[in-house]
Amino acid sequence: MENKEEKKKIVLSGIRSTGNLHLGNYFGALSKFVKMQDDYDCRYFVADLHALTTHPDPKMIHENVKQILAEYLAAGLDPEKNTIFVQSDVPEISEMYLLLNMHVGIGELMRTASFKDKARKALGITSDGDEIEKEIIGNNTNQRVNAGLLTYPTLMAVDILIQKADLVPVGKDQEQHLELTRRFARRFNSFYKTDYFTEPTNFNFGGEAVKVPGLDGSGKMGKSEGNCIYLIDDEKTLRKKVMRAVTDEGPKEPNQPVSQPVENLFTLMALVSGPEVVKHYRDAYADCSIRYGDMKKQLAEDILKITLPIRERILEIRGDDEYLSKVVARGAERAREYASATLRDVKEIMGIRKV
Ligand code: ADP
Ligand code: TRP
Repeated sequence: MENKEEKKKIVLSGIRSTGNLHLGNYFGALSKFVKMQDDYDCRYFVADLHALTTHPDPKMIHENVKQILAEYLAAGLDPEKNTIFVQSDVPEISEMYLLLNMHVGIGELMRTASFKDKARKALGITSDGDEIEKEIIGNNTNQRVNAGLLTYPTLMAVDILIQKADLVPVGKDQEQHLELTRRFARRFNSFYKTDYFTEPTNFNFGGEAVKVPGLDGSGKMGKSEGNCIYLIDDEKTLRKKVMRAVTDEGPKEPNQPVSQPVENLFTLMALVSGPEVVKHYRDAYADCSIRYGDMKKQLAEDILKITLPIRERILEIRGDDEYLSKVVARGAERAREYASATLRDVKEIMGIRKV
């Protein structure tokens, strides 16, 4: 079962169901998913098992899964062209996660940047030394730093390898996880003397991975940063957020260097406005005639052009539970077909056979 009928490269990506999607998720991941759907065999999922690693309220999990699905569809993912599914609907993933964990070292997991960040936050450690290891092996941390968080990269590698994905469109922050996936694939192949797994790569249409900045002058728009513009934001909320964006006192001399908060506005503008609009404001900055109020109005206008139609569709689709169930039921069926073929092979290779 090698997908021989499909010559197209296999694409796989997912987003955790931890809340509404923001412009960072949109430009870093979702808009790429949409652009890739015509040319590849795409499989996109909602990573609800990964969301469990940070202990969300059980009541919210189900709602968040539906919300992300509605946002996928509203942004333009076509269930006829793609396999759209929920991670927990594919139990083969959990089974292969157990198998792959036998070939993953605790040390390499503990050295992963995302684990160290989350563990440090959970334990209230501010320094960068070896205190994490001591704290973790010491007492009282069982609840806060769970084994699921540690083995997050194993689960992500399984998501990718079980679908035999070639390309994985993700933002820059996910590249280390992808590197681990490649390492696990190589290790499995060499341990069992096979060439079963291929090594997946990130995909950015030949360009640099996108990093969408925050409007508070900070480097990154993110849920935990609390500086997000959401696809679901209504017009008034969105305008208010943009008008409140941090700037500076304005240029005093021609061609003055641009401060970080203002550069962030230009970066956002480059994503949502036409090049001539960006040039207009760059020129206005250079000759000191810029009025940040006007620039922000323009920016809000251009963001709304993208987000408002998506927002309307989210609201429509979000209320249609029957449609959402139909989409994921079909998606799960296809995803399981691919996954069970891989799992069968992997078990065979590892020597787990029926008596
Ligand atoms: P968050 O950082 O808000 O928790 P996730 O970690 O769930 O978002 O990220 C989901 C996807 O969106 C990933 O592919 C990630 O790389 C991308 N992403 C998130 N924030 C940004 C951002 N500010 N710029 C670019 N891509 C981003
Ligand atoms: N770790 C990813 C994130 O936080 C989500 C994810 C889980 C994923 N499994 C994946 C992304 C497989 C791509 C492929 O955004």
